[in-house]
Amino acid sequence: NEDRADRGPLTGQRILVTAGPTHEPIDPVRYIANRSSGKQGFAIAGALARLGAEVTLVAGPVTLPTPPGVTRIDVETAREMAAAVEQALPADAAIMVAAVADWHVDATAIKIKKQPGAAPPTLALVQNPDILAGLSRSAKRPRLVIGFAAETNDVIAHARAKLAAKGCDWIVANDVSGPTGQSVMGGDANSVHLVTAQGVEDWPHLPKQAVAERLAQRIAASLAQSLL
Ligand code: CTP
Ligand code: CA
Repeated sequence: NEDRADRGPLTGQRILVTAGPTHEPIDPVRYIANRSSGKQGFAIAGALARLGAEVTLVAGPVTLPTPPGVTRIDVETAREMAAAVEQALPADAAIMVAAVADWHVDATAIKIKKQPGAAPPTLALVQNPDILAGLSRSAKRPRLVIGFAAETNDVIAHARAKLAAKGCDWIVANDVSGPTGQSVMGGDANSVHLVTAQGVEDWPHLPKQAVAERLAQRIAASLAQSLL
């Protein structure tokens, strides 16, 4: 692909990225969603491709252009995202940036109607598969597995707990509290902490594009190391 750097540090590396929200149908005309814009994940996919990686981007419903040189697979629900991730394996690295819905609705095949005098309907929720945890424990586990975590409080403690619970190598923790954090979802900048077994790095408040480039460089360095 001409958009890919021919001799970039990630040439020959297959990298899987998930991005965006998922939509979970309530009935054929309604769904539950979240505020993820997909911007950070799309920026990461683009930055990895510019370093020469063969990038597969599994994207939830977003209104963003596909970054040059990236293979995009569009999905709607968490269960579709899980299946697309499985399909995209094997990979050398996986970066799970998507804001995956934690539950899906035990949905109806026909539109729910108001019934005169009846109580409003109750939505029964069913837990979705944890794509990141599943991948981390899979026989086809990529050498480097990275999760994201948006937190409003005790950011580092929650991120460390997620690193252990999910079995991934790094967690990129977003601070979505306070005056800068509130603009992270949908905005163009991000305050992140890189949490690994080695410790915690606090990155400055940066444009999402800059976070993506810095993370792509770190991924390239890590994959080069793990080949030694
Ligand atoms: N994730 C996933 N599949 C899910 C839920 C989350 O792959 N069903 C991934 C996200 O893409 C992200 C990481 O797990 O990389 C952390 O997501 P987060 O929502 O912060 O974690 P949860 O385990 O769902 O915890 P919480 O109760 O805080 O939402
Ligand atoms: Ca969650």
